[in-house]
Amino acid sequence: MRSPAAGLPELQAWFASQAADAAPVGVSPPSARDVLIVAGSQSGLSSIFRALIGPGQPLLIESPTYWGAILAAEQAGVTLVPVLTGAYGPDPDDVDRAFAATGARAFYAQPTFANPTGTQWSADTGAAVLDIVRARGAFLVEGDWAHDLAIDADPRPLVGHDDDGHVIYLRSLTKSVSPALRVAAVIARGPARERILADRAAETMYVSGVLQAAALDVVSQPGWSAHLRGLRQQLRVRRDLLLESLGTHAPQVHVEHVPVGGLNLWVRLPDGTDVHGLVRECETRGLLVAPGSEWFPTEPSGPFIRLNFGSENPSRVAAAGEVLGDVLGTLASSACAARPSGRTRRSVRARVPRL
Ligand SMILES: Cc1ncc(COP(=O)(O)O)c(C=O)c1O
Repeated sequence: MRSPAAGLPELQAWFASQAADAAPVGVSPPSARDVLIVAGSQSGLSSIFRALIGPGQPLLIESPTYWGAILAAEQAGVTLVPVLTGAYGPDPDDVDRAFAATGARAFYAQPTFANPTGTQWSADTGAAVLDIVRARGAFLVEGDWAHDLAIDADPRPLVGHDDDGHVIYLRSLTKSVSPALRVAAVIARGPARERILADRAAETMYVSGVLQAAALDVVSQPGWSAHLRGLRQQLRVRRDLLLESLGTHAPQVHVEHVPVGGLNLWVRLPDGTDVHGLVRECETRGLLVAPGSEWFPTEPSGPFIRLNFGSENPSRVAAAGEVLGDVLGTLASSACAARPSGRTRRSVRARVPRL
């Protein structure tokens, strides 16, 4: 039998109950009816940007942020307006100013274990941004892709604090249940829900009932909480091995924020590093590294790479620093060898494009 367009009612209820867990007393949490099941939150993002923003319209977006959100917004013809974000989230005054300057109707952000930095907004920042979004009559599009990938902090989704439909929430099970079960949820209320559902119906009609039932079966198992606790421990071990390995073998790099959740380390390279050359060289030595430029909606603010510690076995994670340190050393010495004699370091550096 075909699933309802919005999803399997029991799975909708599960996602709603998860959002309700984050609701303080006095806030009415979303209901099962507000949940739309989607085949991965990536396609949910596309629908939200198409249905609620539209071509030529501005969207505030953290910088750096998830490359897939940048791509989905660009595909929808949306105009991106970057807002600098940091260890505890963006400065709420910057968010307010950006709304005022652009008339944007939405802000896409990841308050919990952001991709790429693994940081979490402070509770004060979350409350202040929600107030701004409400006052501006706008939406916060909250990406909660790493809800189940906590390491040192617990997730605090802002959707739980929203009882008037200003938060459009995305929660994915891809990483915690299985990449083979591409099941996620969008939570939206009122007319926003109807518009997103209409876009979903036009695109895919409904998500396979078999996949939804399988996902529900996994998250309803008594062992689910134990699985998440085990995952937390494994992620902590791998993150710490990678940090230690970088500290020992690649002291040239700088990790601005130790991630409190997620799968990634966001690593700053020495100024002037040829990031794409480094990525290529690491790859030939068996280390897959992502160039940081993909996480910036506009110009990168410096030379960064993203290292994933979630998907490798711990011994390979520990070896990553050695490869990276070695490649950085090789690049630095070949840059020195190529430097014409008699020139100062400063004059050569000035010719190297900043990435
Ligand atoms: C922030 C963010 N949103 C969405 C996604 C896509 O998730 P899904 O597999 O549910 O499409 C990812 C994948 O890594 C992500 O990092």
